[in-house]
Amino acid sequence: MSMHLYQMGVKVLGETVHQNLTSVLLAATCVTLTVAYVSKVLLRAGARGEEKAPPHIPSSIPFLGHAVAFGKSPIEFLEKAYDQYGPVFSFTMVGKTFTYLLGSDAAALMFNSKNEDLNAEDVYSKLTTPVFGKGVAYDVPNPIFLEQKKMFKTGLNVARFREHVKLIEAETAAYFQRWGDGGERNLFEALSELIILTASSCLHGKEVRGMLDERVAQLYADLDGGFSHAAWLLPSWLPLPSFRKRDRAHREIKKIFFRAIEKRRKSGERVDDFLQTLMDATYKDGRPLDDNEIAGMLIGLLLAGQHTSSTTSAWMGFFLAKDRTLQERCYAEQKAVCGEELPPLDFDQLKDLSLLERCLKETLRLRPPIMTMMRMARTPQTAAGFTIPVGHQVCVSPTVNHRLRDAWAKRTEFNPDRYLHDNPAAGEKFAYVPFGAGRHRCIGENFAYVQIKTIWSTLLRTYEFELVDGYFPSINYSTMIHTPHNPVIRYRRRTP
Ligand code: HEM
Repeated sequence: MSMHLYQMGVKVLGETVHQNLTSVLLAATCVTLTVAYVSKVLLRAGARGEEKAPPHIPSSIPFLGHAVAFGKSPIEFLEKAYDQYGPVFSFTMVGKTFTYLLGSDAAALMFNSKNEDLNAEDVYSKLTTPVFGKGVAYDVPNPIFLEQKKMFKTGLNVARFREHVKLIEAETAAYFQRWGDGGERNLFEALSELIILTASSCLHGKEVRGMLDERVAQLYADLDGGFSHAAWLLPSWLPLPSFRKRDRAHREIKKIFFRAIEKRRKSGERVDDFLQTLMDATYKDGRPLDDNEIAGMLIGLLLAGQHTSSTTSAWMGFFLAKDRTLQERCYAEQKAVCGEELPPLDFDQLKDLSLLERCLKETLRLRPPIMTMMRMARTPQTAAGFTIPVGHQVCVSPTVNHRLRDAWAKRTEFNPDRYLHDNPAAGEKFAYVPFGAGRHRCIGENFAYVQIKTIWSTLLRTYEFELVDGYFPSINYSTMIHTPHNPVIRYRRRTP
């Protein structure tokens, strides 16, 4: 009985406890669910709060937005916006939203990103594909372009550079014979013409260089006309005269390359040059490049290096003409490193021309030819606590990073010797990025240094330069690469 009672008691107690437990559990579940729900709602709200878009610079002009102010003086525009809004901000131009990432920390987002997230083809292909052609660069998925870049790198090696120095020195000496003993001439024009010749000699091989006459130079100019604001903004099928010229030039130049490839193949000759590298190259899966790809890559190589190197060389000339003491130091360095008699240049001596190298480095700091690198945000991206929405054109500007007040001492001063001392920006990974960084980094840096140092060594040995009546060219912002405005220089042959 007691047992029973006990059992009954236990049962009653059990039922009571069970009932109590059920209520407690129900209550607890309700509370938990409520708390979970409320927290989720709060968290969601919090997350939404964190997902702040970058500050947007307002404009009262529909569609065009800030195009006029930016077009007039992009550096000033961006520096002002940086002071006002910080390193990450957006604004609208011609119906597109641009988000700039200024300074080393913000720029890291672009340089460390995957191409699937911040995409280069989406922004560049429209401009480059009609010029380079199909099957190369931004017309192919990025992993394929990366393989093509590897082939480029194989072709740009030290053994080739040794030959390039001789070719470039000879082309430069021959070209500048027309300048005579002294006068005033357009330096940028001359260097642009020269660099088509040197780049063609070095990168295309003797067959193609042999065909480079005035007609072909005009074809390059027409092709190059494809890199215009119009081409970037308007559909490429529009029947504009400049688009037609570009497309005709593309077809004609490709024919020249096809002929050169055919000639090389038929001759059975194996020349140690860039054309051969591409003719021998294969993708990872063993497939060789077809003639169309080889031709497209050769066009790409020439044009990628053409404007970048010619503007840089021209600006360097003006910086040297402005600072005659520096120019004389560079001339003295030629004699100190190469010998009083100034024998023909060679690659090893070129490497030792460290002042000339620092002048080039400093020119690339103050006048980097690529003012903006761009990507399309295909997924939302976070920088400096802001979420950049899909569809924004994400930009990094070497020009602005190279002169940020907080990173560079005496930021607008041309001072090649700043690299001799502790450089205040050295700790900042992306404060100096004339050749970009990450997966899209330039593969032409070493070639560009060899080319520009050889050209300037030859010129410094031949002439003394000075500004015409103290005029230092202003920046021509109307071209996609910022060229010198009215780039006339005064020169006089050096007396030995
Ligand atoms: C002073 C000379 C040069 C400068 C300042 C320069 C600058 C640059 C920059 C900033 C980029 C990165 C673009 C981006 O991230 O959107 C780049 C990429 C590239 N450059 Fe250069 N470049 C120069 C010369 C050359 C030359 C001589 C060649 C070829 C021989 C070349 C071939 C390339 C290629 C293939 C890429 C890769 C583009 C990509 O992966 O998306 N560049 N260059």
